Amino acid sequence: MTKQRKILVTSALPYANGSIHLGHMLEFIQTDIWARFQRNRGHEVWFAWADDAHGTPIMLRAQQENISAEELIEKMNHEHQQDFKGFNLSYDNFSSTHSDYNREMVANIYGRLKDAGYISTRTITQLYDEEEGMFLPDRFIRGTCPKCGTEDQYGDNCESCGSHYAPTDLIEPRSVVSGSRPVLRESEHYFFKLAAFEDELKEWLNSGALQSEVVNKLAEWFEDGLRDWDISRDAPYFGFEIPDAPGKFFYVWVDAPMGYASSFRELCDREDLDFDEWWGADSKTELYHFIGKDIVYFHTLFWPAELSGAGMRKPTAVYAHGFLTVDGAKMSKSRGTFIQARTYLDHLNPDYLRYYFAAKLSNGLADIDLNLEDFAQRVNSDLVGKVVNIASRTAGFINKRFDGRLTDSLPDQDLYATFIQESENIAADFESRNFQSAVRRIMAMADHANRYIDEHKPWQMIKEEGREAEVQAVCTQGLNMFRVLVTWLSPVIPATTELAAEFLGVSVNDWYAIEQPLLGHKINPFKPLLTRVDPDKIAAMVEASKENLQVTAETNSIDTSNMPEIEPLADEINIDQFMALDLRVAKIISAETVEGADKLLCLKLDIGNQQRQVFAGIKAAYKPEELVDRLTIMVANLKPRKMRFGLSEGMVLAAGPGGSEIYILSPDSGATPGQRIK
Ligand code: MSP
Ligand code: ZN
Repeated sequence: MTKQRKILVTSALPYANGSIHLGHMLEFIQTDIWARFQRNRGHEVWFAWADDAHGTPIMLRAQQENISAEELIEKMNHEHQQDFKGFNLSYDNFSSTHSDYNREMVANIYGRLKDAGYISTRTITQLYDEEEGMFLPDRFIRGTCPKCGTEDQYGDNCESCGSHYAPTDLIEPRSVVSGSRPVLRESEHYFFKLAAFEDELKEWLNSGALQSEVVNKLAEWFEDGLRDWDISRDAPYFGFEIPDAPGKFFYVWVDAPMGYASSFRELCDREDLDFDEWWGADSKTELYHFIGKDIVYFHTLFWPAELSGAGMRKPTAVYAHGFLTVDGAKMSKSRGTFIQARTYLDHLNPDYLRYYFAAKLSNGLADIDLNLEDFAQRVNSDLVGKVVNIASRTAGFINKRFDGRLTDSLPDQDLYATFIQESENIAADFESRNFQSAVRRIMAMADHANRYIDEHKPWQMIKEEGREAEVQAVCTQGLNMFRVLVTWLSPVIPATTELAAEFLGVSVNDWYAIEQPLLGHKINPFKPLLTRVDPDKIAAMVEASKENLQVTAETNSIDTSNMPEIEPLADEINIDQFMALDLRVAKIISAETVEGADKLLCLKLDIGNQQRQVFAGIKAAYKPEELVDRLTIMVANLKPRKMRFGLSEGMVLAAGPGGSEIYILSPDSGATPGQRIK
């Protein structure tokens, strides 16, 4: 065995204003596989992270839900961790950036940066929403692009022509929060002198800490010059107040990465670890951050510079990955491909997705596509058809004929040796995060194992006189190869390998234990370890993801976390488009809950000469009986949509963010069912 390493890994801290979706899970699963692999190799591994609990979107989301920000982040922390457990993430600590540990850490690091002269102040001019009494972050301002004239663009860049600009350059700017026209206002801000770290950062980025694509990107940024970084925000802001600067708060990206260190500090107290051994400037331990490609700037410039300025160690490496697409496109709420972790877990086994991600992940920044058909096919043919199959083809004979006993020697030691020889190649692939290649090698070995069984045909031998001992030997060989395969796969599919370990009666979490085959050993009765992916379950998951859409107002199609939860105004429409909508007064004649749907009510609507059935995502907001006999407004010419529960023939109009906060519209008294809204 090689020397024991001391390794700390982190995933990026998910924002506390949204649910975990499969895009996040790509990263968290990547981190977890790597952490589990390192543990199996006998290293000391800690996996510590947290929720990213601060910032304007979280503050506004809490306001929307009529709860305090603290209540919101508490609730989300719980929800997030339920999801993580569902996917068997093996983290040691999950905290929050709003913890006392982090508050102290941030104050401490800031103090050191300030003492060392890296902080300065100056007055800047920003857009201010007078109605809401707040300065507006770039993402909360929309307007017309100053370069190409496209309307309704974010305050920092144009989705149409791709140009970047200052929000003050927008033509016709408006606040996403109140809709009012923002005004310019001055305020004093605090800045971090990033440029002071240029030489050191250049040295660090050439030390092998970064992927080549990232190094190239950084070269461009250095070319543009490193500017001072604005680290303060004005009240109202949900975050930590800057010491000695009342009304000024640390920008969320200051305290977020420090959450890595403070979560670890929490762990130190619990596990009796020495914080300085891990985070001191001359630490000999290894620190790895797994992140998405969208947050490279923060992790490769600001964060190492802050650490260095505060006299702490820098990360050993930062590993960025690409984005998840589903069926070849950005995740989309209306197509049902914006799949939340919970929705996935309601329908499918976590190991399926862990395996599929592993089979697609390499160590680059390329985007990764979850093709739902390929997903089912891949899992069924590889995991069920190849790996589990080896055990199901051999275990029965050993259990029934030989009382669960394996033979005392292997009939084909050379074959077993080829497995062991492959082991270090597979380890090298895991080590370099080339999971795709590791999986390919493992499946090639599974093919070997199956071929061996095909050639020896124990099911035939058992019928022939006097060949019992051979059957036992062949099955022993088969089960030993199976044990090697599941040991290699155990970082990837922990739930299945745990079942396999119970069946084999040995742990499969020790990378080196396979060097000794299992001989003269008694195995346990075989239970099915993993069933095939049921395509109906995938369809149900997609359907349920569409159902989520009806309750949570659709704000954007991809990364909810970085964007405001307040719905921006939609694109302008003309009068013809408006007239194309057939809106009718409708009387609710019955309202019923729908079996198997958590969020839907089935409404029967009378629109004069016709009746309509509509499934509406309003169950959390209304008791069915409250709705009966009420008048409301419906879109009557919407194309009927077949749902899992039946046909939905239109939509009922309602307002509000979702959940229990949905308000259906009703006409003033005097209106009668069937009248058209004009
Ligand atoms: N809170 C910041 C990170 C702070 S780290 C000190 C953040 N949060 S996030 O919730 O938006 O994203 C968390 C991680 O998930 C990021 O690394 C991000 O790149 C990743 N992903 C979010 N959506 C993703 C996909 N669709 N695909 C792959 N990864 C994605 O950024
Ligand atoms: Zn533009």
